[in-house]
Amino acid sequence: MKIFIDTADIDEIRQANDLGLLDGVTTNPSLVAKTGKPFRAVLEEICEVVKGPVSAEVVATESELMLNEARELAKIAKNIVIKLPLTEDGLRATKTLSGEGVKTNVTLCFSAPQAWLAAKAGATYISPFVGRLDDICQIGMELIEQILTIYNNYDFDTEVLVASVRSPLHVVEATMMGAHVATIPFKVIQQLVKHPLTDLGLARFLEDWKKVPQ
Ligand code: G3P
Repeated sequence: MKIFIDTADIDEIRQANDLGLLDGVTTNPSLVAKTGKPFRAVLEEICEVVKGPVSAEVVATESELMLNEARELAKIAKNIVIKLPLTEDGLRATKTLSGEGVKTNVTLCFSAPQAWLAAKAGATYISPFVGRLDDICQIGMELIEQILTIYNNYDFDTEVLVASVRSPLHVVEATMMGAHVATIPFKVIQQLVKHPLTDLGLARFLEDWKKVPQ
């Protein structure tokens, strides 16, 4: 499973990239707003650091305007992926962009039929939001299982990008289900590495090492 980082914070992106395990980045308007910097500048900075796919979201709600925005965003760098909302206009724009060979990430997916339609529109990635479903007492990861089954049944190329990840358990379940990508906040990437027994074991080894004659 590929690891994307879900942030627009360049320091977090640099740190995750230094691990050598980062495959891409997803941003959204809320994450960009947190940086306090202009949208284009944020994306240019990210694309200088990360060579894998970098999702940039359109904010227009009408398909023609989405396409105008998408074409401008695509000029920033070769690895820009256009993120579009799962609406009728978003699907129309996705269909057009996929016909032009532009990579797309259809976002704000909360149901299996939405994911099916995004795949039919030719989306490169579908982003189901598992954490936000958990928040309203629906099991987000069940949606991932449904989408993977549907995509597998019809041999869709669209990759399932597990989004709104809130904990390492989401990531573990995503890998066990065979999701293609998870976009993970920096804090959760750090949690994936950590284990108290690793820290304890390392401390003991280092302590015992002091007893070894040098
Ligand atoms: O980038 C979209 C998604 O990952 C947002 O996550 O935590 O705001 O639900 P969250």
